[in-house]
Amino acid sequence: MTAILRALRADITTLDLDAIVNAANSSLLGGGGVDGAIHRAAGPELVHECRLLGGCKTGDAKITKGYRLPARHVIHTVGPVWRGGGEGEKALLTSCYRRSIEVAVAHGVSTLAFPSISTGIYGYPIEQAAGVAVATVRAALEEAQAIREVIFCCFSPGDLTVYEGVLELPSKPAAR
Ligand code: AR6
Repeated sequence: MTAILRALRADITTLDLDAIVNAANSSLLGGGGVDGAIHRAAGPELVHECRLLGGCKTGDAKITKGYRLPARHVIHTVGPVWRGGGEGEKALLTSCYRRSIEVAVAHGVSTLAFPSISTGIYGYPIEQAAGVAVATVRAALEEAQAIREVIFCCFSPGDLTVYEGVLELPSKPAAR
């Protein structure tokens, strides 16, 4: 089965899917941006469960219930802060997408949405981040047959244009 991959402009907290991904910080105790929006919409039970998780390393992902969200689960991942690109940012962002898909599969999630991790407060350039997001999810889905749909949830029209452009490109051919 081939999974559907698409970009959508939406508030991720409104999506009725098995899981939405949160661009969190390593405390997992909430913050601004999409993290703040998810915690507000899920209600205070979310931070209570997050307190039990003991934080999360950059590039890793952990799952909780969705509480008052329409989504059944939240997968919390911690993206890298952009420091110019020479500090392993690409590998860490790749790891966020890969680990989120792994955690999703391990918990029976088959439909999920990602926000554009690290491209807000953490400053990762959107064109580069969208390329990493799409390439990593496409590669991970080759192993993760149980995933049916992945949505790249964009908050701005400009981000949506970037993701749509990246999704239209053919996958990079293997290096020769
Ligand atoms: N739905 C979808 N996307 C959203 C929403 C929303 N409701 N709100 C914002 N975005 P950011 P980061 C987009 O800053 O760069 C937090 O304080 C936003 O436009 O939320 O990974 C955490 O606690 C952007 O495209 O996450 C961390 O400390 C994308 O989500 C830090 O920010 C990511 O922007 C993480 O920074």
